[in-house]
Amino acid sequence: MTHSDDSSRPVSATSLRTREIGGIRDEDAGSRLTLTGWVHRRRDLGGLFFVDLRDRSGIVQVSFGPDTIDAEGLEIVRDLGAEDVIRVEGEVTLRPPEARNPEMATGQVEIRADRVELLNAARTPAIPVFRGPEDELPSEELRLRHRHLDLRREELQSNLRLRHRLILAVRNYFDRLGFVEVETPILTKPTPEGARDYLVPSRVHPGEFYALPQSPQIYKQVLMAAGFDRYLQIARCFRDEDLRADRQPEFTQIDLEASFVEADDLLLWIEGLMERLAEIAGIEAHPPFQRMSWAESMDRFGSDRPDLRWSLELSDWSELMGSADSNILRGAVDGGGRIRGLRVEGGAELSRRQIEEIEGAVKAAGAPGLLWAKRTDGGGSGPLSRWLEEEHFEGTGAAEGDLLLVAAGDDRITSPALAAARGAVIRALELPKEREHAWLWVMDFPLFEEDDGELYANHHPFVLPHPDDAHRLADDPLSVRGIAYDLVYNGSELGSGSLRIHDAELQRTVLRTLGLSDDDVDRKFGFLLEALRSGAPPHGGIALGMDRIVKDFLGVASLRDVIAFPKTTAARALFEEAPTPRSDEELRELHLRAIRKDVERPAVDP
Ligand code: AMO
Repeated sequence: MTHSDDSSRPVSATSLRTREIGGIRDEDAGSRLTLTGWVHRRRDLGGLFFVDLRDRSGIVQVSFGPDTIDAEGLEIVRDLGAEDVIRVEGEVTLRPPEARNPEMATGQVEIRADRVELLNAARTPAIPVFRGPEDELPSEELRLRHRHLDLRREELQSNLRLRHRLILAVRNYFDRLGFVEVETPILTKPTPEGARDYLVPSRVHPGEFYALPQSPQIYKQVLMAAGFDRYLQIARCFRDEDLRADRQPEFTQIDLEASFVEADDLLLWIEGLMERLAEIAGIEAHPPFQRMSWAESMDRFGSDRPDLRWSLELSDWSELMGSADSNILRGAVDGGGRIRGLRVEGGAELSRRQIEEIEGAVKAAGAPGLLWAKRTDGGGSGPLSRWLEEEHFEGTGAAEGDLLLVAAGDDRITSPALAAARGAVIRALELPKEREHAWLWVMDFPLFEEDDGELYANHHPFVLPHPDDAHRLADDPLSVRGIAYDLVYNGSELGSGSLRIHDAELQRTVLRTLGLSDDDVDRKFGFLLEALRSGAPPHGGIALGMDRIVKDFLGVASLRDVIAFPKTTAARALFEEAPTPRSDEELRELHLRAIRKDVERPAVDP
């Protein structure tokens, strides 16, 4: 008989234990158990020993006394240290009332051990696993170096368990909808998603490289051409880009593609998925989610991922202030820009220093600065106020005690500036949230963006141009919208998708618009064009950031709290120590020569 045939045996039982610890309760009093785990804490009360024994499911108190265990056993217990791995046998007994601990799930009972076995002694842990309520966490760098110990922490264990349950729900959800999980290659060809590629040298083809996928984008489209109709992958993606708390160099996507669909089909599927995942995580998601065009989102919030937990929005005061006696204001409007800003109710209470902090956020967003004016009883104060007459204040609706924050110029500069100001104001004034869970679809992104006179794909070059705009591709590409949508939750971009170009000629036109020669197009994307030409169905898809979903649902600060072995902001793995230099001989085999630099210090962001 195999273990799984024995229905009376708890699932958590193994050959070494009868069950896991976490579920032991007072009704188990009187039963004999064999438990395994780590010594979380050991106390010696003059010959009577108490060990808090921990496994992944919980902690239970085990007592060892001269009347229950033999001298040899006591000897073992006397020498136990933190994180030693032991196996104990004994009886579950009710603790006397005064010794019960309501804070602990198993706090009604203790195990009176009559046998103990040391399975493996542990070295003194480099960072403590047991922490009292007052103890602070060690520095993150230290915790990442000793990740195996940090991962023993209940918080990380439960984060990763939630991650598992969410991934399982994703697979079940899409399985029911007829999606098929297909694995796409890791050693591949560049997929343009706007970051640099990680390259892998080929030993057998000197001077040639594979790229790690930035996403499975092209493969999933080829699968649609191949007739799979509905594709899913929990896909690992790799991007060499500047890292932040919400970006890792390798991360996981819930990656989807479907044929014969319109955007609505995908949006409804994702809303249903989010409702399901939110339920598991204990947060709220009630479809249908609000939808807003990219243009409206930029206009009202200066951002393509506004945090709608707060309704504070921008106003356009170009007409109102464009005639003010100021070269900055008038010049901005005459130059084709706008004067926009925020009216912050009660913002006049912000100190000079707090306003400087808001200005700092604006500068970090790439703008030269911010104009501001407080409306006070005698008129106004602040650099903007000298140009503002009573009528200007009135026109903005500012009352006494309000603050006006203004940016004048090209939207491309002022939008990120004002979005940063909005966030900074919310933090500075500690504005109360108007809702806890704000879901939003941002729709119809422009197909292209411009930087230094060059065109770039806003998402990637495979997005279907909006049929109403496609005729402007040649003459006015920046005005062409794509059928593209981003999912935003509390100001965080959880996912991004689009309908795709399925016509090979249109695909070539878009790639040409991006400045690729026909040769480049064939060399880089020939296989995609061939698949499109072979009778590709209309198709579309989306990818959701799995790590971000777990992070944002848990409300933790960093992706590192939901990834078992994350990288630092300097893209280093501190525990296993990667990347590492290789010997000249190994490099020769790969037909490479290294230009060595001083190794940078590892860095972890705040
Ligand atoms: P995109 O590049 O927007 O789209 O990625 C989709 C989602 O993946 C998450 N994400 C990241 N998460 C952690 N670390 C990163 N460095 C990182 N980069 C992206 C985000 C993002 O919304 N192929 C397209 C999808 C499609 O069109 O179907 C794509 O990859 O949550």
